[in-house]
Amino acid sequence: MKFHRHHIISMKDFTRDEIDYILDRAGKLESLAKSGRSDILSGKILALLFYEPSTRTRMSFETAMLRLGGNVLNLGSKDTSSVIKGETLADTIRVISTYSDAIVLRHTSEGAAQMAMEFSSVPVINGGDGAGHHPTQTLLDLYTIKRESRLEHPDIAIVGDLKYGRTVHSLTYALSLYGANITFVSPQQLKMPDQIIDDLKTRGAHVNETENFDKVLNNIDVLYMTRIQKERFPDPTEYKKVANAYKITNKQLVNVRPNMIIMHPLPRINEIDSSVDNTDHARYFQQSFYGVPIRMALLTIVMGADI
Ligand code: NCD
Repeated sequence: MKFHRHHIISMKDFTRDEIDYILDRAGKLESLAKSGRSDILSGKILALLFYEPSTRTRMSFETAMLRLGGNVLNLGSKDTSSVIKGETLADTIRVISTYSDAIVLRHTSEGAAQMAMEFSSVPVINGGDGAGHHPTQTLLDLYTIKRESRLEHPDIAIVGDLKYGRTVHSLTYALSLYGANITFVSPQQLKMPDQIIDDLKTRGAHVNETENFDKVLNNIDVLYMTRIQKERFPDPTEYKKVANAYKITNKQLVNVRPNMIIMHPLPRINEIDSSVDNTDHARYFQQSFYGVPIRMALLTIVMGADI
């Protein structure tokens, strides 16, 4: 496996066989992810460097490490670390990589993980780089689709902020390997970047774009909702124009495919009404749990441990 003791930066780096290998390994670890503890990573240390807020990514990595018997080092708030004194990311990474066996980095700048990789003596895992990529989220998204729907040729609508949303950038690259039929639904201002659409077409992906949510809702297996990424808008008035662009309530679910599942990387703001939570379609909380077995699988791979 190419990722043994290697960095996880972008979904573009993965072949389908590699993804399938990770999903299979997560399947084997799923019951341990729910409860218990093993010694698979006993003596190993994972460093968490989060320069942007996080709940699920940070805590599921911590949970994964604890269930595997390893330990976690946390940078904590950047206000209480030397980042506030002006230390460069390169220097922080150089040092932290001598304290740990792998580093998860979340950063505000696109390309930060790529850059960190150059200065690290241990594997760097991209936990989200600005509006760039979020590969570990994508692996758990694929795992959710595989477990709760079908990963071969799914009909999927990806809705919301496709310009600034890093989860959807990573997800679409991976879906192109599974023959997915992808419809992008967004306001004009938040369209999927042309560069990504071009890349997807070159990879042979089936992609469509629309602004009309209702038109696609009844013909899909997977509805992937996302939040409008308020913090990435240079101008708050532009955010206000699109803040409530798409919202799903249980009333819109009457004619959808019976097995259609609804996913969301979370946090949700107002895109999914709470009336959807108790329907058979909701999978977003299950999806966030799947972050644990996926991150357990990744950690065992990058740290070179057998399971
Ligand atoms: C996402 C992120 O940070 O990109 N959250 C997550 O990791 N589950 C999605 C978001 O913030 O909208």
